[in-house]
Amino acid sequence: MATLRFSSRPWAAFLFVLGLICVLLSPAVAVKENDFKKCEQSGFCKRNRAYADNVASHGSAWASPYKVLPEQVSFKDGSLNAIVLKAIDDQGATVELPLTVSFLKSGTARVTVDEKLRQQKSIELRHGSQARKERYNEAEGWAIVGGLDVDSEATIASQGDAGIKITYGPNAAFEADITYSPFTVAFKRDGVTQVKLNDRGFMNMEHWRPKLEKTTKPEGEESGEGNTSEPAPSNDESTWWDETFGGNTDSKPRGPESVALDITFHGYEHVYGIPEHTGPMSLRETRGGEGNFEEPYRLYNSDVFEYILNSPMTLYGAIPFMQAQRKDSTVGVFWLNAAETWVDITKAKEAKNPLALGIGAKTNTHTHWISESGLMDIFVFLGPSPRDVLKSYTELTGTTAMPQEFAIGYHQCRWNYVSDDDVKEVDRKFDKFNIPYDVIWLDIEYTDDKKYFTWQSDMFKDPISMGEQLDAHGRKLVTIIDPHIKNVGGYHVSDELKSKGLAVKNKEGKDFDGWCWPGSSHWIDAFNPAAIEWWTSLFKYASFKGTMKNTFVWNDMNEPSVFNGPEVTMPKDNLHHGGWEHRDVHNINGMTFHNATYTALLSREKGELRRPFVLTRSFYSGSQRLGAMWTGDNQASWEHLGAAVPMILAQGISGFPFAGADVGGFFGNPELDLQARWFQAGAFYPFFRGHAHIDARRREPYLLAEPHRSIITAALRLRYALLPAWYTAFFHANQDGSPIVRPMYWTHPSEEAGFDIDDQFFVGSTGLLVKPVVEKDKTSADIFIPDDELYFDYFTYKKLATHKGKHVTVDAPLESIPVLMRGGHIFPRRDIPRRSSQLMKFDDYTLVVVIGKDGKAEGELYVDDGDSFDYESGQFVHKTFTLDGSTFTSANAGGRDASSVKKGSWLKQFDNVAVDKIIFVNAPSKWSSKKEVEIESGGNKTPVSLDFHKAEGGRAAFAVLGRVGAKISADFSVDFS
Ligand code: NOJ
Repeated sequence: MATLRFSSRPWAAFLFVLGLICVLLSPAVAVKENDFKKCEQSGFCKRNRAYADNVASHGSAWASPYKVLPEQVSFKDGSLNAIVLKAIDDQGATVELPLTVSFLKSGTARVTVDEKLRQQKSIELRHGSQARKERYNEAEGWAIVGGLDVDSEATIASQGDAGIKITYGPNAAFEADITYSPFTVAFKRDGVTQVKLNDRGFMNMEHWRPKLEKTTKPEGEESGEGNTSEPAPSNDESTWWDETFGGNTDSKPRGPESVALDITFHGYEHVYGIPEHTGPMSLRETRGGEGNFEEPYRLYNSDVFEYILNSPMTLYGAIPFMQAQRKDSTVGVFWLNAAETWVDITKAKEAKNPLALGIGAKTNTHTHWISESGLMDIFVFLGPSPRDVLKSYTELTGTTAMPQEFAIGYHQCRWNYVSDDDVKEVDRKFDKFNIPYDVIWLDIEYTDDKKYFTWQSDMFKDPISMGEQLDAHGRKLVTIIDPHIKNVGGYHVSDELKSKGLAVKNKEGKDFDGWCWPGSSHWIDAFNPAAIEWWTSLFKYASFKGTMKNTFVWNDMNEPSVFNGPEVTMPKDNLHHGGWEHRDVHNINGMTFHNATYTALLSREKGELRRPFVLTRSFYSGSQRLGAMWTGDNQASWEHLGAAVPMILAQGISGFPFAGADVGGFFGNPELDLQARWFQAGAFYPFFRGHAHIDARRREPYLLAEPHRSIITAALRLRYALLPAWYTAFFHANQDGSPIVRPMYWTHPSEEAGFDIDDQFFVGSTGLLVKPVVEKDKTSADIFIPDDELYFDYFTYKKLATHKGKHVTVDAPLESIPVLMRGGHIFPRRDIPRRSSQLMKFDDYTLVVVIGKDGKAEGELYVDDGDSFDYESGQFVHKTFTLDGSTFTSANAGGRDASSVKKGSWLKQFDNVAVDKIIFVNAPSKWSSKKEVEIESGGNKTPVSLDFHKAEGGRAAFAVLGRVGAKISADFSVDFS
């Protein structure tokens, strides 16, 4: 892709040639890294790291210059208000920073610090800037959708001159212990400090100041001595004002304004989250040392092509939410800030008893959060379980939207399918080879000269007939629509964007012009409600001709990617709706565009209201409400295949679980085994899409010779058979934010040995434990077993010799995927192979009951029409299945009385869907004498045959009941006694 990214300007072409020479002379990774800032090159990051070093070098002699004024502290209805005074010199000058600490009903606490002068807009901007004067305070408006109700039960436990203690949360088990001088907040659970803000005194809120044109520095400024002045390194004025990187100068009209804070997780050794990065799920230390990074984790949404692995470098999206884990306890913080952010992580042993030489020492994880601008706004979650933390976080930021059902099937993409005939042919070929898929995608080449909402009419002569052919097989089309709009007269989208004044502005207030796929372009400012309304109008079927009800959308390049911009994005002094600088909102930008498209797809003609499907590359906290994400431009290498699982797991535990990676790898041509292994892994990504770069060879699964074609077909069929289980997992994600694929620490927070395992996962609550093979020529897998349950091979029912905390090795020749079934679970399946998920909608079910150690099992099925919002008014079926000793029962979940629901057309048709068979793995030997059992449903008893297979050669005993015939939506039971 890099080869297409040059502007027409001569200097850009020159730089391109120079770049190419560098690429040829040095390892590719170095070039990419140098396109992006290191902390040292980002003024505010450099200053804050220096500040931290200076504080640390003072040891206990250091006192943070931030103090709460005791006389101004007030506490009412679950909220504390106060002023934090920041001492800014030795003469007693201070800056007032209004502080609010609110205690929310969910048990979450929120700490917000603003700057009074900025609130009052009593500052001057340099360079005649038209930007807003306040600190950016609208991140909440984009990221947060609920959970802000304040807990009026929160009470003052004690108050004095030194501080105040507030008890709050479930059973008043939480406490916020606020000390005034210096300002710190310790969050305790059951009396024990879990999370502490400003623990090490790194808090630094760079206040507004006018630029003084000085020739010499005032006396004393360099010393940094005295406990109340800022340490000298943060007074490094060289990075306060206009800053240049890669030939671009940022005018910084407000000067230095960063917010930084250290947050300690007391007694926690593992921290997770803050995607998007490559590297292990359990985040590494960032201050050097063996095995550690030298750089902080960076969050600054960027188009990092050919990104490198195992790096804290920023990627396309940002979720500033971190969880910390120790045995039996999880806590978390959400740093609500949309500006460029860096996070340093270090870990230190703290001996309980200094004489014990480290025995019994606990590890504290220290984090240091540094953002360029905006409020200091932190949410603290005290768990105690991973589920509690994620539930509280998603109460604030929202949960995964219930997906279009097709969206969890397989997506076939490449850059590009070149014509409507090409699409039709690919569609036919999938059918010819009996390979299921749901969606075919069109990348940018389908447009007329990269003008979105148009078709390249020579190649796409009849998009409707293409859409109709797809529809006949229950398939969909996704077209790409990017946020850059070609700057050319006579193109209605561009003309309207300009005439309506809906584009992002440059620092002079003119439409910002930059370079992207179409050449000179403008960018829609999706922060503007009027822009969303206009964007919505463009997607109407009558407006975007050639689209149909089975057309959905892909939003790419929304970081935004600007080829000739600083760090491949917009200048930070660009202006958005409301006068906010791009600097303030950068990390939210992608979400606003995703949101505009989501809004547009809700209804594309009068009377229509359907679930949108929009894939996004850039994201922020809250993007999970709008669709799916993928991990961008990976490579067709084994290393990238391995890197995808931790990235997808990190998304899941960070509230945005509808995630996937380009199957097969975007850049390059995967060797056959790699492609097969990638499909096997992809079959267990929540978002499952094959994609390839324009220069990559065609690699649709049917093109492969045997055995690879069959291997891939089997992986796809497995995905399709398990779609009911996946959909049920999505339902849970939608209900309480649970990840769809779940790492070991999340499912087993007591099992420390699993805390840094990130190459295997459970699928929802199915008990399916998957470990994709990601190494070349590897024919076995070592799977970590997190508990004492029984585990069986998914395909053979072989009972594995498992022990808690140990690994079990399973054979995994190329044709097989290591999938285990954990005892105690029941999961639904649909076993008839079909061409697409839509054609399976009314197929009967198979239930797989994996009987656990105690002879029991339980599981669920959630199903609805997979398309509308009718589930919100009761048009769904949600069953729980239990095998309790000798009785199998299917009943409505939560005791729901579904009889009162007036059935719509889907529910009526679904009433005919039945259970075909029930497979009992690890069936008790006493069932061996039974040939028949009775199914009771609605007072009727029906005999059904039971086919028992005794244990043999390591394989567990199993029994197949069927044909069952009971309606899946009805309650029924089977008595085995
Ligand atoms: C960048 C995206 O990451 C990639 O998936 C896409 O194919 C190209 N843009 C072209 O649209």
